[in-house]
Amino acid sequence: MLCCTWLVASVTFFLSAPGWLLVPIRREDHDNDRKQVEGLKSKKKSATFLLNLLLFYTRMLWQGAVYISEGKGLWSIVAVIRRRTAVALASFTKYELKQEEAVVSRVAFGSCANQSAPQPIWTAISAFDPQVFIWLGDNIYADAKLPVRFIGRKRTSGPFKNTPRFWPVSAEEMQKKYMMAKSISGYSALRKTTQIIGTWDDHDYGMNDAGKELSSKDVSQQLMLDFLDEPKDSPRRKQKGVYASYTYGPIGKRIKVILLDTRYHRDAIFSNGAMLGETQWAWLERELKKGDAQLNIIASSIQVISNMSAVVRPFFHVESWSNFPAEQERLYKLIADYNVSGVIFISGDVHFCEITRFECAPVEYPLFDLTSSGLTQAVEELTNPVIASVLRFAAWFVPNTMRVYNSHCRYKSCVYGKRNFGTLEIDWDADPVMIAMSVRDIFGSRVSSVEVPLSMLQPGALKREPLKRGEVRRHCTLDADLPWTRKYLLAYSFFGLCLVMTASPCLISYMAFNKLRVRRRRGQNQKAD
Ligand SMILES: *[C@@H]1O[C@H](CO)[C@@H](O)[C@H](O)[C@H]1NC(C)=O
Ligand SMILES: *[C@@H]1O[C@H](CO)[C@@H](O)[C@H](O)[C@H]1NC(C)=O
Ligand SMILES: *[C@@H]1O[C@H](CO)[C@@H](O)[C@H](O)[C@H]1NC(C)=O
Repeated sequence: MLCCTWLVASVTFFLSAPGWLLVPIRREDHDNDRKQVEGLKSKKKSATFLLNLLLFYTRMLWQGAVYISEGKGLWSIVAVIRRRTAVALASFTKYELKQEEAVVSRVAFGSCANQSAPQPIWTAISAFDPQVFIWLGDNIYADAKLPVRFIGRKRTSGPFKNTPRFWPVSAEEMQKKYMMAKSISGYSALRKTTQIIGTWDDHDYGMNDAGKELSSKDVSQQLMLDFLDEPKDSPRRKQKGVYASYTYGPIGKRIKVILLDTRYHRDAIFSNGAMLGETQWAWLERELKKGDAQLNIIASSIQVISNMSAVVRPFFHVESWSNFPAEQERLYKLIADYNVSGVIFISGDVHFCEITRFECAPVEYPLFDLTSSGLTQAVEELTNPVIASVLRFAAWFVPNTMRVYNSHCRYKSCVYGKRNFGTLEIDWDADPVMIAMSVRDIFGSRVSSVEVPLSMLQPGALKREPLKRGEVRRHCTLDADLPWTRKYLLAYSFFGLCLVMTASPCLISYMAFNKLRVRRRRGQNQKAD
């Protein structure tokens, strides 16, 4: 197979030589492009040029091997080669690829990156070769924290809590942390080849689980926009919150990325109040109304569809849109009212990955929420191996009506609790246009994925019977509406285990005591005989 790849790559290489020459400099910034193109003309630079060519050639072979190992076959390699040649030729004729014109077919995203920890995952992200990378929040961990303590002088958790666990830091300290994040070598390398955009979540907003009450939010906003290289005169610096939208590609192959701000205007956590705030809702409505994009990627820092809180009570609380049911309903309804097609949600925050699918929203097509969380902060890698295996078992054990289970998952639970990033690949040339949504591990291999035709994400593509009373249907019944016998499995098993663990020593000592008594009585009887 490797031989075949090599052969195909070689042939195509020679047939499209003019295209190759420009590929290695495809997405450098424009000044560099110009210098390099001029450099190509002089003999002096020809060595660098050959080296570039060789590097690119090796990279193509490598990518080909990866594609084959993923079972994509030779045709997809040819497609990649064709795409790259087209991009290279486009940059040759037009010279500057404008954001609106470049066809985008590879998007990556991620969340939850500790700036003080090693971040080797950028190598795999760069190897995926995304055209756009989207930060989904917790881009740094800015807030200060104390360890979890249930007893002692400073109790940060539990019923006797007397000290907050998290608190915001000064602007200088936050800036320092952003500098650290920006200077990580893998990330710097990605910045040179990929457009990077993003929104924030709680830890880079300023404090764990914070909402609109946080007083340092305007300072945080400027620092976050500095991190993303937002121009000094950008309107995004003057508005309240970091929401933004980006459009890529010509009509017919157009992608719109809508980045929501789920922090700046958010009411208290259990209030069922505001999530986006009226200004942001009005903006979102305008964005969706335009309706000129074939694919609308809506990025939210917290999960949109999943309602983990409903099934892990009373032990945990997980932030999500489901904790603000009125706002969640409003979001679905807005999409339905404007007949917006091709909506895919992407989210982060939870420190594991999960793909969910909801078929009973007012929009008459399946809504997907692709959650990738943990560029560094992944739940199984932050705890010891025993707890990690308990967590993995719990992920499989706890019911979940929205999660996508299929044969592409690495684990039975279809949850992956180690470091990961998400990807979207759009094959615009296929008929019908196909979208592959995946989450990948630290080596870039898939741990969970779904492939759907774009035609399935159109209003009316899926008409579902309304739920009957008491019916439980996958991808339709809300977790909160599960019968209580199933909803609280985690609680039952925990308290059941506690009961067994406390009862069994009593039972064993009772049995031992009984046996001893019988033996003693027997002894006495023998003596009497
Ligand atoms: C980030 O990593 C550093 C170094 O490993 C560690 O000390 C710190 O606690 C981590 N922060 C978070 C929020 O996990
Ligand atoms: C999610 O679960 C919580 C807790 O059970 C519940 O209050 C909330 O209404 C649920 N949200 C939805 C959309 O079902
Ligand atoms: C959405 O589609 C429905 C039926 O196809 C149509 O009646 C309605 O006017 C459309 N709404 C908008 C805002 O285009």
